[in-house]
Amino acid sequence: MSVTFNGKYLEPFIGAHEYDALQPQVTALHKVLHEGTGLGNKFLGWINQPETYDREEFARIKAAAEKIKKDTEVFIVIGIGGSYLGSRAVVELLQSPFYNNLKKNTPDIYFVGNNINSGYLNEVLSLCEGKEVSVNIISKSGTTTEPSIAFRVFRELLEKKYGKEGARGRIYATTDRAKGTLKKLATEEGYEAFVVPDDIGGRYSVLSAVGLLPIAVSGVDIDELMAGAKAAKDALATDDLSQNDSYKYAVARNILARKGKDIEILVSYDPAFAMMNEWWKQLFGESEGKDGKGLYPASAVFSTDLHSLGQFIQQGSRTMFETVVHFGEAKTPLTIGKLDEDIDGLNFLAGKTLDFVNDRAFEGTVLAHTDGNVPNIVLEVPKISAHEVGYLIYFFWKACALSGYLVGINPFDQPGVESYKKNMFALLGKPGYEEQKAALEARLGR
Ligand code: PA5
Repeated sequence: MSVTFNGKYLEPFIGAHEYDALQPQVTALHKVLHEGTGLGNKFLGWINQPETYDREEFARIKAAAEKIKKDTEVFIVIGIGGSYLGSRAVVELLQSPFYNNLKKNTPDIYFVGNNINSGYLNEVLSLCEGKEVSVNIISKSGTTTEPSIAFRVFRELLEKKYGKEGARGRIYATTDRAKGTLKKLATEEGYEAFVVPDDIGGRYSVLSAVGLLPIAVSGVDIDELMAGAKAAKDALATDDLSQNDSYKYAVARNILARKGKDIEILVSYDPAFAMMNEWWKQLFGESEGKDGKGLYPASAVFSTDLHSLGQFIQQGSRTMFETVVHFGEAKTPLTIGKLDEDIDGLNFLAGKTLDFVNDRAFEGTVLAHTDGNVPNIVLEVPKISAHEVGYLIYFFWKACALSGYLVGINPFDQPGVESYKKNMFALLGKPGYEEQKAALEARLGR
């Protein structure tokens, strides 16, 4: 098993009988999920995706990635939310958070269209100067404001640099199979197009073309990623809590929520996991946080944040629990040397790896935080590889779906995201929003 639920540190907080008590509910909801009879059942394509994904498109993704590796120095990935978080997370975890600065034979990758900040976009534009550039515009709806604005800017850049015809060969559009503004534009302009499947929502889309093209461009083995997800799909197909660690994780967080824990902090001891934290926050936050319910998904990277948030976690208001993703093996070990004169007093660590020290920090922290009344779930992952990460992604997907059904919400929609958009469009004067504009401006005192 690639991801194991370690409930050892939860024992003071959750009795074995509490898991048993929820087994009948899990069995019923597993049936609802697998038979597609629950809320949001139009978005269950991810359940079998690691097995049934479109092989022809997968081959096209690999071919496009090879072409991009050859003709591109800077690859611009435009998307927001589910249209970029997964790919950025996987690239940073499996390659490096310093990916762009490393010596490599793959292009630099910059993620834009995930904010509306001109400084950010201008800086990325300047990083493209004198470089061969290609662009992947990713939007399921094809109308999201942030990526649409960024695409306007980068399309102009490519067309100026390469001409309309040349730009055409450097723009890759990942969008709906048949409908939407971006699909129409891609067809008219002749961009190579990839599909966001109808039955897969943004936050469940990292293993579709949405995530796979940028991930493949970075040089990650996407076959292994899919094989890991397939292994998870098979291993996690049972409703039996003693066999399904993804469901066990969902049940543990549900029990803790029922006991008044309102915040879940996803913790890693690897800074390369920081964007995975962000991906996970979107997955659980957008899926569960509705109808006045849901755990607030927070995150931390230790030991870094032990010197900031650590104080609060140890002694602040007792509203949170932690879920630690603990990797067994480091990607590249580093050993601490010995000094002739033990001037810094660290010779007791000579010959030990940094990961040995990191692991003692993990053990010491889990014990300290549980002593401080912060329950700790530990998810054990043997190592950082494409296979394990594919497994972990599916593990969280499935836990998230069950979690949503356990709290009685639709885990596959995001109606709340529209509120800010409507206000923003009205304030910007988008045609059709005239009435709202006047009302909002009055509230703003204009
Ligand atoms: O999970 C989701 O559905 C959202 O985060 C979307 O991915 C995000 O809003 C971007 O939407 P789109 O891909 O339509 O531009």
